[in-house]
Amino acid sequence: SRDSAPAKKLLAWYDGHARDLPWRVSPRDRTKGIRPDPYRVWLSEIMLQQTTVAAVRSYFYAFTARWPTIAALAAADEEDILKAWAGLGYYSRARNLKKCAEAIMADHGGAFPADLDALRALPGIGDYTSAAIAAIAFDLPAAVVDGNVERVVTRLKAIDTPLTKAKPAIKAEVAAMLDPERPGDFAQATMDLGATICTPKRPACLPCPLRSECAALDQGDPERFPVKAPK
Ligand code: ADE
Repeated sequence: SRDSAPAKKLLAWYDGHARDLPWRVSPRDRTKGIRPDPYRVWLSEIMLQQTTVAAVRSYFYAFTARWPTIAALAAADEEDILKAWAGLGYYSRARNLKKCAEAIMADHGGAFPADLDALRALPGIGDYTSAAIAAIAFDLPAAVVDGNVERVVTRLKAIDTPLTKAKPAIKAEVAAMLDPERPGDFAQATMDLGATICTPKRPACLPCPLRSECAALDQGDPERFPVKAPK
């Protein structure tokens, strides 16, 4: 059953508080119908795995200045990509960048497929990244779940199953809650809320747009969620 109330509140908050990030389309451009570039969405999501937004910014500018399109990245030397990646860590991500760009040129006519399963089949693209690209680049109703979203949802619904076992339930909650008119904004709003308001320690519940619906706040101890597996 769909509960649209939290999504509407979250999106209203996002419209006023979205972080200004280089791979996002500004609210003003969005009203003109401008959509995010799937190449930039993909590149940012790969960089943001295991790396903070603050650290990613300058790498994202450098990559997109040097390789502005998927075709340019597919044609790049792997050595140059690895050098440009230096400092971000987890170098398999950088090697998969070129493999994925090549697969898109060879198998998809140079354009990211607007399909969850086709995205999931590309090198370096797993459950999280395929859902993120589907939602953010194509506004497909995919449930995007990262660590921030896990924290927001386990608190909102007071899910006290250990996180390792709670993942299917969290994904189902996100799928039921997302706004089918704005899946990309919903995904990024949930992540921004987790990064800026619903933080691991001392969450800022007073200004939270979901405070009146938050079961964890109702119980008096939002920091208790997500629950860790017993040792
Ligand atoms: N973390 C990973 N991807 C993100 C995005 N698109 N917006 C905000 N935080 C993120």
